[in-house]
Amino acid sequence: MRKSIPYGHQNITEEDIQTVIETLRSDYLTQGPKIKEFESAFAHYVGAKYAVAVNNATAALHIGATALGVKPGDKVIVTPITFASSANCIRFCGGEVVFCDIDKDSYTIDIDKVAKLLKDAPLGTYKGVVPVDFGGYPVDMESLRELADKYHLWIMEDACHAPGGYFIDSKGEKEYCGNGKYGDVNVFSFHPVKHLTTGEGGMATTNSKELYEKLCLYRTHGITKDPSLLVKNDGGWYYEMQALGFNYRLTDFQAALGISQLKRANAGLLRRHQIAKRYDEAFSKIKDIQIPKVTDNFFHAYHLYVIRIPDRLGLYNYLHDNQILAQVYYVPLHLMPYYRQYGYKEGDLPVAEDYYQHCLSLPMFPTLTDEEQEYVIEKVISFMS
Ligand SMILES: Cc1ncc(COP(=O)(O)O)c(C=O)c1O
Repeated sequence: MRKSIPYGHQNITEEDIQTVIETLRSDYLTQGPKIKEFESAFAHYVGAKYAVAVNNATAALHIGATALGVKPGDKVIVTPITFASSANCIRFCGGEVVFCDIDKDSYTIDIDKVAKLLKDAPLGTYKGVVPVDFGGYPVDMESLRELADKYHLWIMEDACHAPGGYFIDSKGEKEYCGNGKYGDVNVFSFHPVKHLTTGEGGMATTNSKELYEKLCLYRTHGITKDPSLLVKNDGGWYYEMQALGFNYRLTDFQAALGISQLKRANAGLLRRHQIAKRYDEAFSKIKDIQIPKVTDNFFHAYHLYVIRIPDRLGLYNYLHDNQILAQVYYVPLHLMPYYRQYGYKEGDLPVAEDYYQHCLSLPMFPTLTDEEQEYVIEKVISFMS
């Protein structure tokens, strides 16, 4: 029988393994030189000033929301088509999540609807917004920033799906997802199905020194040893707990894996684009398949390749019967039992709900072979006809 084809998969090379082994043999398992090296290589890759490595992206979102000052009762606007932690980080701080519908073509937060929410409420009602570069499609951060500035909102860009994705701004410049030019804090995940992996892992980026210092503080129990930040100094050993923080540190051997993975990031993106092009060519002629729509000036990072079809359950079951483990991302967050307790119900966010009824993520990862992709295409087409 054919080996199952997952929707996403890590790519670990012999070089990655050797790099991790070397770090395991070094003097540092955690908080050693590899963390700083990974942070600066990653910051450079996405074009941000500062990067803070953490043990997963949920932790990055949590310290991000904490550093941005989310307090009980603060209202924050979040997209419903995302993984739970994009919204949960607001709840961790006691904030109130207000879901806003998505755009029907990009599946990212609908900026016109965000504008309407802001316009219809007294100034100061909302404190921030969490857009997600969903599936790898970059949010139009330039437009969102303009709106956020008008209403004094902070932005935390969840770029977990989009390292290497970018859009071209109004001056003709490439703006990489999570580069910190528009998002105050930006977040990435290194879970195995993502573009780069460290097993579990995450990164927060920012261009603000003040936010960077807060992110560092919250990552490590709220404790600092930095002489320039201490209230007093009793000597070389002295440290201070200045805030209520967490232990969200990444280990050095994970950072070593991240550094090694980062070297292949562009090659991985290129391969994702080849795979997307092949799917596009195969499916664009099939009447009932809607392929991803990509606007000019947007460079998709293709974490996911999402098609929309009338009979999603039928195709999902058929593909699974044929060892193709297509997946559904995401069940809208506002319809989760947890968020329903705040009054959300079916019909509240019609575009997101319609998206959910018909979406299916097909296998998309750099090591997917041409033969495997051919098989996926053949099975999708045979079901559709
Ligand atoms: C959009 C998005 N945000 C946040 C996360 C959380 O990432 P992690 O698993 O690293 O905590 C994920 C992971 O699936 C995600 O897809």
